[in-house]
Amino acid sequence: DITHVRRLERVRQDFVANVSHELKTPLAAIKATVETLLDGAIDDPEHNVKFLGRVHENAERLHFLVQDLLTLSRIESGEERLATGPLLIAPVIESCVSRQEHRALAKQLRLVQIAPAEPLAALADEEALSQILDNLVDNAIKYTPAEGEITLRWYADGSWVVLQVADTGVGIPEKDLGRVFERFYRVDKARSRELGGTGLGLSIVKHLVQALGGSIQATSQLGVGSTFTVKLPLAEASLPVEV
Ligand SMILES: Nc1ncnc2c1ncn2[C@@H]1O[C@H](COP(=O)(O)OP(=O)(O)O)[C@@H](O)[C@H]1O
Ligand SMILES: [Mg+2]
Repeated sequence: DITHVRRLERVRQDFVANVSHELKTPLAAIKATVETLLDGAIDDPEHNVKFLGRVHENAERLHFLVQDLLTLSRIESGEERLATGPLLIAPVIESCVSRQEHRALAKQLRLVQIAPAEPLAALADEEALSQILDNLVDNAIKYTPAEGEITLRWYADGSWVVLQVADTGVGIPEKDLGRVFERFYRVDKARSRELGGTGLGLSIVKHLVQALGGSIQATSQLGVGSTFTVKLPLAEASLPVEV
């Protein structure tokens, strides 16, 4: 009906406004910095490298933003081809951990795995699950102060595989908890930007989880930590034989 159509149009307009704003900030920084260099700062050996560093940093931000936007639009349009089949969880967790380990170590964060006694498989796409885990662990690392702990736990529950990423980080206020999966929603915009975030990670995660027929939910306690729980369909039999 009409109100539904109007609401969708409103959501679309908000999205375009948000994207424009997110693009504008780093672009303005690049433009101003390059102008300063052209105005003579390029010959100032004390500052020219610092200015170039600022250009690079903002170009990186634009790069990640466009990359996340493309990922989101691919998933939303249903173009993303998912090769869904029985997928052993442990190796996917293992490779996620090896990708993120150095960043956790740099912050003296412990990465703990709690695996089930028996190997467990979900009906999922490996690349999608990797992307889900990478985003959740990336957030856990970013939003947990040094010397904290990040726990990756997975187990079977009825016909579901439950995957949890828990941290001992800053936590999310109750009022924001329901909104963190929205595009560009951040509890603390300045902080997210400073940490290199685009505000799109969790909406990408949510779309991927739903495309796999699963669900995601977050719980948190301010100053204590957050837990993201993903449920995916359990692959009952037909585990891949070759390992
Ligand atoms: N593990 C976490 N601990 C605390 N806050 C979190 C955590 N994960 C996500 N958030 C909050 O949710 C927001 C949205 O997350 P996300 O979509 O991944 O964006 P980004 O990480 O780029 O800021 C973050 O800006 C942050 O405020
Ligand atoms: Mg993120």
